[in-house]
Amino acid sequence: MTEWQKTTWRSLPRVQMPDYTDAAALAAVEAQLSKYPPLVFAGEARRLKRALGEAARGEAFLLQGGDCAESFEQFSADGIRDTFKVMLQMAMVLTFGAKVPVVKVGRMAGQFAKPRSAPTEVVNGVELPSYRGDIINELAFTPEARIPDPRKMLQAYTQAAATLNLLRAFSTGGYADVHQVHSWTLGFTESEKAEAYREMAGRISDTLDFMKAAGVSGDQAHTLKVVDFYTSHESLLLEYEEALCRLDSTSGKWLAGSGHMIWIGDRTRQPDGAHVEFARGVLNPVGLKCGPTTSAEDLKVLMAKLNPENEAGKLTLIARFGAGKVGEHLPRLIKAVQEEGAHVLWVCDAMHGNTIKSATGYKTRPFESVLREVQEFFAIHKAEGTIPGGVHFEMTGQDVTECTGGVRDVTEEDLSDRYHTACDPRLNASQSLELAFLVAEELTALRSAQARAKAG
Ligand code: PEP
Ligand code: CO
Repeated sequence: MTEWQKTTWRSLPRVQMPDYTDAAALAAVEAQLSKYPPLVFAGEARRLKRALGEAARGEAFLLQGGDCAESFEQFSADGIRDTFKVMLQMAMVLTFGAKVPVVKVGRMAGQFAKPRSAPTEVVNGVELPSYRGDIINELAFTPEARIPDPRKMLQAYTQAAATLNLLRAFSTGGYADVHQVHSWTLGFTESEKAEAYREMAGRISDTLDFMKAAGVSGDQAHTLKVVDFYTSHESLLLEYEEALCRLDSTSGKWLAGSGHMIWIGDRTRQPDGAHVEFARGVLNPVGLKCGPTTSAEDLKVLMAKLNPENEAGKLTLIARFGAGKVGEHLPRLIKAVQEEGAHVLWVCDAMHGNTIKSATGYKTRPFESVLREVQEFFAIHKAEGTIPGGVHFEMTGQDVTECTGGVRDVTEEDLSDRYHTACDPRLNASQSLELAFLVAEELTALRSAQARAKAG
């Protein structure tokens, strides 16, 4: 293999990336971004890698979630706060319910570029290039809006920086203090799960009172007041990624400065392609989407490339097969991992294999399918004796109607009410929480079965 540089991806076949027509504008943007501060630091990426290593061993659990595509237009402090809040609630349900530390990673502060299944889109007989995310072009259906504009990278950087700034403030400035567990429920739309959450919050408060009375203080108490919250996105627009690469002086390795974790999508995981080349050289933890078309042979090559030192926590395999298909695909890929003796973290993306078009014309995902894929993922790992280490969702703290079903039953007719996503349909706050309770149940059942087997 030739030596990696942040530019070596440029000589390899690329897919899903825009052809910028204005080369001078592109070069100017790249030069400018190269001078900007990185959004994240190497020490943070290493800390996340360690935490993911714990998840790979079953000592922690990854919760990764956020928008399908972040949007310039919908960017707001409230939006960030609400998604952060729902993730904290979900993490709390998992920590308290399944007694496992939760590694929290947002699809945030950089999740702008989108791979598309078709290069063009036809509406009423008019054909235009597809929308590829706000960092590339615009959603409006006009020829001008769909022209890729490199300057959008600067706006994406600015929005990512502002998002991270707020997330850092929320994580350490008091908002995420577990003593606030009750206030996170405020503004929560009523549902059965909101009640279950409130009940759990009550028990957590009691526990905290007990700890205080028993004299737990100092450092131990401090860990309850802050959270580690990390960012991630699909590493798709490689000009942006390259421009934010920075050399880490401590290790002499390169950091993708655009986010703590980056992942490779299901459409860009060609072993000899540009996206794999870029990701193989950075020190960050890397995710790899695995879909029905991922072959065992490709997976072996990809694991060797993306995690050559077989480091725990370096590589996360994000399975996204679709409900009803996990049994057909996951075992053969688990076998490939075992044959290589590879250290990986297995995570379930229960969204991307379950997208359908509703009778009312909206792209949606039935909550029931999302739930079923999670259950299948757990069942296969149980049968194989391997570790289901996390979940990956497209979700928002907003009360949207994009996925059908859930306890408050969003119907196909309801989809038009509050369908705001710039790309794929997301779980709303209530559906997200409902799912967290289910995952906590699955995890609890699995862990007690494993404990019983150990005791033997
Ligand atoms: C995504 O995560 O938004 C995505 C496009 O996923 P996938 O590459 O798995 O289709
Ligand atoms: Co998506």
